[in-house]
Amino acid sequence: MLQQFNEKNRNIYVYLKDRLVKREDAKVSVFDSVVQGGDAVWEGLRVYNGRIFCLDKHLERLQNSAHALCFKDIPSNETITQAIFETLKANEMMDGVHIRLTLTRGEKITSGMDPRLNQYGCTLIVLAEWKPPVYPPSITLATSTQRRNNPMFLDSKIHHNNLLNNILAKIDANHAGADAGLMLDINGFVAEANGVNVFCIKDGVVMTPFADACLPGITRGLIIELCNENGIPCVEKNLSLVEFYTADEVFTTGTMGELTRVRAVDQRSIYNKSGIERLEELRGLFREKTKNFGTVIQ
Ligand SMILES: Cc1ncc(COP(=O)(O)O)c(C=O)c1O
Repeated sequence: MLQQFNEKNRNIYVYLKDRLVKREDAKVSVFDSVVQGGDAVWEGLRVYNGRIFCLDKHLERLQNSAHALCFKDIPSNETITQAIFETLKANEMMDGVHIRLTLTRGEKITSGMDPRLNQYGCTLIVLAEWKPPVYPPSITLATSTQRRNNPMFLDSKIHHNNLLNNILAKIDANHAGADAGLMLDINGFVAEANGVNVFCIKDGVVMTPFADACLPGITRGLIIELCNENGIPCVEKNLSLVEFYTADEVFTTGTMGELTRVRAVDQRSIYNKSGIERLEELRGLFREKTKNFGTVIQ
């Protein structure tokens, strides 16, 4: 599904470095590390009913990603939280909002790869947009020729802006006429889709790939927690494509699209053979969490 421009986002304020600027003035330098090498880390967050959902978890992952990449002078969680609050308040945003939070290694004194050229501190960007969950009721997946990075290459646990691995998978999906590209790991097991984690359900058991060659998604983690709290069997394991083709239900998870049903993988329709339904129950449990859980905007 292709996102469309939302007129409500025409005049939004964006937080850039240390202040709010209008959308048309929200530009980074050509010397910024994100332009030079995709050298930045990011998070996608959602605002539900005046609360920023799972803010602490997102900040923890952002800090860990920046630390793993040896960023210097990383802004504190308090500074980033204040920047997010300021941005949401300036735009009067309380619900149906997606935040793209980016932290780059900052500007360089001259173009080049060496992080010692970064002498101005990190660049913080808070881009909040009116954007209710974007996925349609169900989607299709097509397996991509692109393998998802495992820790032997660029560890997928770093949530960085060098997204070409995933973008190539999305291009494969576009060419195949599918909504998202399903990526395998180095051993041929399913890793994740290009921008979301994947789950399958068989005979009532909820299953998801180990987080070895995928982003350990916050929504993914929440689904595992919800299963454990509610007595729903749930396992992390190596899963092959055939296990997805023959599952009773398949779904994706991510902050942007929440829980989305997959109706076909590589043109194999997913149909429920056991008659045990889990996805709707999990959706209900997830929705309850979004209503009552999160950091109140101050
Ligand atoms: C590659 C990839 N996988 C999965 C996800 C879903 O993660 P989360 O549930 O934390 O939004 C994202 C979101 O940014 C992603 O980029």
